[in-house]
Amino acid sequence: MKVAIMGYGTIGSGVAKVLDTNKDIITERLGESLDLKYILDLRDFPDDPHKDCFVKDYKNIVKDKEVKLVVETMGGVEPAFTFVKAMLESGKSVTTSNKALVADKGAELMKIAKDNGTNFVFEAAVGGGIPIIRTLTACLTGDVIEEIAAICNGTTNYMLSNMEQFGSDYDQILSEAQSLGYAEKDPTADVEGHDSCRKIAILTSIIAGKNVDYKEIPTEGISKISATDFKYAKSMGYSIKLVARAVKKGDTYSCRVAPYLVKPDQMLYHVSGVMNAVAVVGNMLGESLYYGAGAGALPTASAVVGDLVFLARNTDKHVRIGWANEHLQLADSNEQRFKYFVRTSALQSNIENEFGKVHYTDLDLDDETAFITEEMTEAEFNERKAALGGVISVIRFF
Ligand code: HSE
Repeated sequence: MKVAIMGYGTIGSGVAKVLDTNKDIITERLGESLDLKYILDLRDFPDDPHKDCFVKDYKNIVKDKEVKLVVETMGGVEPAFTFVKAMLESGKSVTTSNKALVADKGAELMKIAKDNGTNFVFEAAVGGGIPIIRTLTACLTGDVIEEIAAICNGTTNYMLSNMEQFGSDYDQILSEAQSLGYAEKDPTADVEGHDSCRKIAILTSIIAGKNVDYKEIPTEGISKISATDFKYAKSMGYSIKLVARAVKKGDTYSCRVAPYLVKPDQMLYHVSGVMNAVAVVGNMLGESLYYGAGAGALPTASAVVGDLVFLARNTDKHVRIGWANEHLQLADSNEQRFKYFVRTSALQSNIENEFGKVHYTDLDLDDETAFITEEMTEAEFNERKAALGGVISVIRFF
């Protein structure tokens, strides 16, 4: 079966490597071989073992009826969307690792795939090599999913783990993550939580069966987390993790991406470094945890190749996963309830005026007091916080 790869960067070249390295076992399992016929890229790769496959115009792939399977590893919404749409409309099935494309256009592309009797799949878009999408769309189709809580950004998990372990400050650990190639030169998408937000939007769309607009998910990153926050967390026996979360509320879900204080008896506490983990609670299954490499060329390419085998086994039919191109109204995030850890320069008398009974958790630092609130709604907390003033940092308890 002939395959085309669109975008020969880290992931695209990883896909070629997986197809080459594991050619025999893939052929044995599938019953036929997956042969690379085209690679679409504007750059030249004269020394590449697949140098004869390169094309610069996606229409070369569109019009070749022999190509049934296409990999999209270009990134970004355009021109990826135009290219993927053209492939689906010409009867080819597509797998992508591109979370921006899936979060923005997933439901639309699924509908185009359905209308054309093909498939659009995206295992590598969330959790890299962790097979979480197929777990949700196949293995757990008998469950109502009550909650997903994911550490789904390796860069920020690496940074938080190192801040915790070495007491480093945010700026110091960011430049270290950049020099190691984890964080991008412009780290905004990772550190401000946008990447995690798109990933939980995709997972929530799948479990809800309707389209979640990622722009409606309240999202905070880790750029305000300091070494001092970690000192407090440690003194309380907690860690701080960037968690993307969706909790079932009636017919819909309540979502948020934020740093949370997590304690050792919670599964996500133990996920460190660049690793990702997705905790899923099903109404029949109970708790489960999926852990593994959330990024990197080969783990991500491994998920893409798994998708290729799935597509190759289903070239004659569209496989429904039940993600309708219909907007899901998320539950009001202001009604979410948390206990909050607060650092403030306000006086204790003012703290008690605004928050009533609190638990102080002091490190004897000059000019600040730290306390834990009772559980309350986000709306109520924000009102009291504004009235208190002098707030240095706030972290929710998971
Ligand atoms: N920047 C992402 C991460 C890459 O750090 O997890 C994988 O989506």
